[in-house]
Amino acid sequence: MTLRERTHWFALHGVIRGLASFGAKRGELQGRLIADPTVRADPGGFADELRARGRLVRGRAAWLTADHALAHQLLRSDDFAVTAIGKTLPGPLGWLEERTTVKGRLHPLLPPSLLSVEPPAHTRYRKTVSSVFTTRAVAALRERVQQAAVELIDGIGDGTVGPIVDVVDEYCSQLPVTVIGDILGVPDRDRPRILEFGELAAPSLDIGLSWSQYRRVESGLDGFNTWLADHIAALRRAPGDDLMSQLIDASEGGTRLDDEELRATAGLVLAAGFETTVNLLGNGIRILLEHLDQLAMLLDRPELWPGAVEEILRLESPVQLSARIARVDTEVAGRNVQAGELVILYLAGANRDPEVFTDPHRFDVTRDNAGKHLSFSGGRHFCLGAALARAEGEVGLRAFFERYPDAQLAGAGSRRETRVLRGWSTLPIRLGEARAAVRS
Ligand code: HEM
Repeated sequence: MTLRERTHWFALHGVIRGLASFGAKRGELQGRLIADPTVRADPGGFADELRARGRLVRGRAAWLTADHALAHQLLRSDDFAVTAIGKTLPGPLGWLEERTTVKGRLHPLLPPSLLSVEPPAHTRYRKTVSSVFTTRAVAALRERVQQAAVELIDGIGDGTVGPIVDVVDEYCSQLPVTVIGDILGVPDRDRPRILEFGELAAPSLDIGLSWSQYRRVESGLDGFNTWLADHIAALRRAPGDDLMSQLIDASEGGTRLDDEELRATAGLVLAAGFETTVNLLGNGIRILLEHLDQLAMLLDRPELWPGAVEEILRLESPVQLSARIARVDTEVAGRNVQAGELVILYLAGANRDPEVFTDPHRFDVTRDNAGKHLSFSGGRHFCLGAALARAEGEVGLRAFFERYPDAQLAGAGSRRETRVLRGWSTLPIRLGEARAAVRS
């Protein structure tokens, strides 16, 4: 542990952590979002409280909204931009944080990550990824998702009646890493390491981390950085027919990405490719096993699966919130927002806005407008992997439940500790009798 690390943690997380715990005890909404465990347990209840206080609510250090129309508007507005983690810290803290950040080390919320840059750099990076990650390329992956799902399901349990498995460990985390690993040419032997880095670094999107969480995140990011640099170097020496090799090639073409830009872009696609989808699958299995009538309907009418995945994304959004900073003084929902102020967009709340979704807390796989959720964000930063995530959700959940239609929850499981990402870290399931594999 170095003084630099300690100072960096203190400036970026320590002070906020202290203030948030204090604020949460006094019922402050922003403090509660960071430090109150009941928010994680009941995002719908928190969304209602936030909404009851207005469309745009002033928190201690940022504005907050759970209003669907407003969140949608701000995501698309040129008056608002993404920002880097730490950029909105007040004076001396911001200064300290910047001085103690390790330069050249990748972080999903620091430039040149797509998630924290705006045009023209954003346009350039996004163009490079889109040139490789085309609709056609993603459509072609559906078959691969199906194959990977069946292979993984073949490997869980022991094929006999009644074993209890941790479905997150054996299935939900394996499917996305297998798929994105194939796409990006990650050798099989490296996949467990990638999962480990991901597990360590998942809280990197959160603010107010404890010292030990911060240390784990840093070691995950460090390990991932080193691995990624080696992986890119290996593909440069011996390109494959994977999308990462194509991305490297594209980055040397018209849009030219330098080494750091390429690592950040490729690293984000890889990390975003499994860190979120694992939660979609885990959240989906959990909610369906809590609503067996809905599961029965899906098994009876498989054409409902695409809508069911939208409904799971709506109610159990794997990404709970995002934030934007005002570029200019502007009026939003009748309030004056000043340039440099931050607005927290509580996507999980917007997804339960009664103005858009009737009976918003109810899980209904036949809901006709579930796809209006904001779980993939909107505007320039709309999720680049949405089509792939949807395919993995549909194929992955359907394949699992068609093989194990009598699966049951076999314990409480444990939620991931992350705040921005919502998912399960363990989910014990009694599989029940296996049926023959069905191809969808
Ligand atoms: C259920 C799964 C997923 C969810 C819920 C999700 C959600 C999101 C959200 C909310 C954002 C935008 C954040 C913001 O506006 O501040 C985003 C951006 C992004 N996602 Fe996803 N994502 C998922 C899966 C994927 C997959 C599978 C990939 C890659 C194959 C991916 C790649 C990306 C990338 C590269 C961006 C940055 C786009 C930009 O800033 O222009 N995501 N995702």
